[in-house]
Amino acid sequence: MAETAEEETPIVINEEDEEKIIQYYSSFHLILLVGDGDFSFSLCLANSFGSASNIVASSLQSHEEVIKMYKNGKSNLEKLKALGGTVLHGVDATKMQHHSDLRNRKFDRIIYNFPHAGFHGSEENNHLIQMHKNLVGRFFGSAKKMLRVDGQIHVTHKISPPYDLWDLVGLGSRNSLICIDCADFKIENYPGYNNKRGSGSKCDEPFHLGECNTFKFIFNPSRKNVPRTKQKKRYLQAPSQSFQNVPNSISPPIYSHHPAYVSDMIHAGLPARYDPTSEFFRIFKPHISYIQETFGRVDVDVELSVRRAIHHGALMFRDEARRPPEDYLAILEEFHCWSRSRITRLQQELQDLDRRVFERQGMGCYP
Ligand SMILES: C[S@@+](CC[C@H](N)C(=O)[O-])C[C@H]1O[C@@H](n2cnc3c(N)ncnc32)[C@H](O)[C@@H]1O
Repeated sequence: MAETAEEETPIVINEEDEEKIIQYYSSFHLILLVGDGDFSFSLCLANSFGSASNIVASSLQSHEEVIKMYKNGKSNLEKLKALGGTVLHGVDATKMQHHSDLRNRKFDRIIYNFPHAGFHGSEENNHLIQMHKNLVGRFFGSAKKMLRVDGQIHVTHKISPPYDLWDLVGLGSRNSLICIDCADFKIENYPGYNNKRGSGSKCDEPFHLGECNTFKFIFNPSRKNVPRTKQKKRYLQAPSQSFQNVPNSISPPIYSHHPAYVSDMIHAGLPARYDPTSEFFRIFKPHISYIQETFGRVDVDVELSVRRAIHHGALMFRDEARRPPEDYLAILEEFHCWSRSRITRLQQELQDLDRRVFERQGMGCYP
């Protein structure tokens, strides 16, 4: 008896749709590289992704200058372009949002490895340190305007003295950027990358790396650089004791002039907390906005986003105030309270929807 072979539907996997990852960078990210020396870092990412179509690699120098300065400059640029990358020259990190090819563009990752204002004497010289700090601070000021929602700015930097005096976390903070992570940087994790001095007669030579970190920043527009004493005072003026007993079922009042997350807070019995200067709001607003913006999207990992938000909050506390952990626990209570209230409100909305479908179908009274 002839067997009937079951016909299998062939599964076609488009290789281009598969996510490729190298360290913190994904082929699904739109990535801008700034001050990229001989472009070997961009090329390393592109090689890992198998494509550079998601990469915009840039240098301050012109095309001719890059080729003159770096022995591999020409071939790196050619390979990047062959992989579909965009290469831009004359991009000044301190005002790149005005560059004709970058205006109105937003990125998931903006990377500047080893920013440096040039070799003008001892790295311990205060004036030179200030030059480096100006470069990084102004880079932050420009980059933060070019981030997508949930985007990050990454700066890799030496952390031993005198480089620790640059105070990257403080420079970020002055630009409403929160440092969410300082990860060990190991050059061997980036095959093909050659770190370059980038200026002077030895521009094509590497520099000693030693201990380095990749500092990762996110933009928090509500985060102003407020002196610590004021932050403390503001917190004391808005105590949080009354937010522990949240009723589990409350009819949501209609506050259509507020953004939805404010309704969630009011729903949680937190009317007094709609204070844009409150600690809770200041710390968790980016997360709350993100949850609102991505609501219902299947490609969003809410659990990860919550974990990140809590982690960011803890780092903010540690970095900007060095306050006792109990202060942060109080804020977390509010966060928990807001989450519960939001879940309750969403459950009610679902039930309402269910009821309307039930009644419209003439199924009698909703049980
Ligand atoms: C120490 S090198 C590092 C180069 C490269 N990122 C690397 O990791 O090999 C510093 C780089 O910063 C660049 N740079 C300095 N000032 C800049 C600016 N205002 N805008 C863009 N790049 C700048 C230099 O051209 C140089 O390539």
